[in-house]
Amino acid sequence: MSKYVAKKPDKNGHVDFTIEENETWEILFDRQLQVIQNRACDEFISGLKTLNMHSDRIPQCGEISEVLQAQTGWSVVPVNAIIPLEEFFSLLAHKQFPAATFIRLREDLDFLQEPDIFHEFFGHCPMLTHQAYADFVQWYGENALRTDKKTQSLLGRLFWFTIEFGLLNTSAGLRIYGGGILSSFQETIYALESPVPKRLEFNLPTVLQTPYHYDQIQKIYYTINNMAELFHLKEKQIMTLVEKIRGGSENDDFVIC
Ligand SMILES: [Fe+2]
Repeated sequence: MSKYVAKKPDKNGHVDFTIEENETWEILFDRQLQVIQNRACDEFISGLKTLNMHSDRIPQCGEISEVLQAQTGWSVVPVNAIIPLEEFFSLLAHKQFPAATFIRLREDLDFLQEPDIFHEFFGHCPMLTHQAYADFVQWYGENALRTDKKTQSLLGRLFWFTIEFGLLNTSAGLRIYGGGILSSFQETIYALESPVPKRLEFNLPTVLQTPYHYDQIQKIYYTINNMAELFHLKEKQIMTLVEKIRGGSENDDFVIC
């Protein structure tokens, strides 16, 4: 359950946000733009420029979709605050990224359990201009759609430790590509600079066996060496490995991100 209700788009797909909601976007956008410098990966920074979002108002799904369509064939679609898992997977499988059309209240500025439009637009959409990332998300949707809850739960870990909370080794040092980090002011700093979390080299069997907590700051991050690794990952026999592991694995609560 969410205390938030998504706003319904009109017949032209336009969502009407209030002055206060646009100001919340501005606060989040401006401070995130500062904190991601030298922390977000180049692919994210490049995608952010390509999307040409501004701080003065919340963009419309149509505007973002137009750019994504030209780059990778993706679009973003307005959805309710909480949607069924099957709908979530099906949208991803069809290159449609769901964006719940609400923005957090000021009291939730720093942490929000459910993904709002800032998380989706700022956190994920820049990387959706990158083909390897976009293809991996689509692969995830297609495969999660055709399996059962327990396997979805294991696949959810892969999604979590890459698309949401992934780190990237670069020649300039460690950088962030995970949208869950890049839409959070505190975690953008914490993920790279705190001595608390472990930062481990990505290893598929280990990731699939690592539970996560969606309501806490992360204790483990996994690093990949380039974005093409995501492309190669889906070429591996992930589903075979998932089926092998699932027998001895406890079930996680699975969340929509
Ligand atoms: Fe997310």
